[in-house]
Amino acid sequence: MAEQSTSKQQSTSPKVGSPKSPSISPTGAGSPAGALLSVEVSDDYNDDADSALGHGDDAFSSTASISSSIFEYRTIKGRAYHSERHNSDYYAPVDERANASVDITHHYLTLLLDGKLHLAPVKDPKKVIDIGTGTGIWAIDFGDEHPAAEVIGTDLSPTQPEWVPPNVRFEIDDATKVPWTWADGTFEFVHIRYLFGAVADWSALFAQAFRTLQPGGWIESAEAEVDFVSDDATVAPDSALALWGRMCKETGEKIGRPFTVLTDNVQKTGLETAGFVDVQTVDFKVPVGGWPRDAKLAEVGRFVQLTLENDLEGYSTFMWNNVLGWPADEYQIFLMKTRKELKDRRVHSYLKVRYAYGRKPE
Ligand SMILES: C[S@@+](CC[C@H](N)C(=O)[O-])C[C@H]1O[C@@H](n2cnc3c(N)ncnc32)[C@H](O)[C@@H]1O
Repeated sequence: MAEQSTSKQQSTSPKVGSPKSPSISPTGAGSPAGALLSVEVSDDYNDDADSALGHGDDAFSSTASISSSIFEYRTIKGRAYHSERHNSDYYAPVDERANASVDITHHYLTLLLDGKLHLAPVKDPKKVIDIGTGTGIWAIDFGDEHPAAEVIGTDLSPTQPEWVPPNVRFEIDDATKVPWTWADGTFEFVHIRYLFGAVADWSALFAQAFRTLQPGGWIESAEAEVDFVSDDATVAPDSALALWGRMCKETGEKIGRPFTVLTDNVQKTGLETAGFVDVQTVDFKVPVGGWPRDAKLAEVGRFVQLTLENDLEGYSTFMWNNVLGWPADEYQIFLMKTRKELKDRRVHSYLKVRYAYGRKPE
């Protein structure tokens, strides 16, 4: 990315435009996540002090324009979720707190890609769509970088800001309702990021992307596996962090929208089955906390920790209470333990993130 982005996010969102950071290559390009190199632990992260940011170590099947005011949400335990008109069971809220985490996530992913917004070799596309755009922060940054491109972001809820670059707009659309309303060959780039837990049929999603792309157009899919793992056994099997993985996986099975996108190799298989060629995958270990010796990865890790600590309830309450019906009196203890483990400098956990991209043949 050539310039610092000027995302016009609402004031409730952190200013997390595209970063400039030291360069580091992803490890294990094209290899399965388990084959990634290990991330070295900084000497400061083997003691038993808590880490703390700021403590010195860094601190409906048809689309509808949002201007038609579909501003409806449902409230669960004081948090705003998608309107019931969408049969999505989507686990995360869509309020200000949740949106802040989406924006921080964009920040750490952009850091991870050394300031780039994507890995697919896309050249000056004229029409781009960001599926499940969230706060629209990726679409806005992409629109800023490519003023000649028309960029559309779609989501179930109109949580995106109103003040956006003139070439960017947002629409309400359920990506899982097929066929998409877009005509064949509409786009030159389809971007899909962090829809784990939201999609029942990834093949159907990729097939729609294939249909609506022009020949020669690119798709990119970036997903994470919500399992906290470690290479040095510092994530204990009976830890709260380990319980997160089980909670997500059991939720995915119960609602039929898996969280195991990487384990199931959904991206590569799905893209190739849809007809994409030149499919590449790039795997990352995304640290949780500032424990890596490598400065860039430590910075990424601090933002991962921040996005989690910002909204542990938002990420988990629907799963724990509404989907799984796990004991309500244990929920607060679970959150408390999670917070403690996230701050524990002896725990060197990471999440796996996979970028996959491919081209529609000419
Ligand atoms: C974790 S956020 C990621 C946002 C954005 N893609 C990013 O990476 O910054 C997932 C988003 O997907 C949206 N979503 C979930 N199910 C969806 C569906 N069926 N159709 C469209 N968007 C959906 C949610 O509303 C949420 O905004």
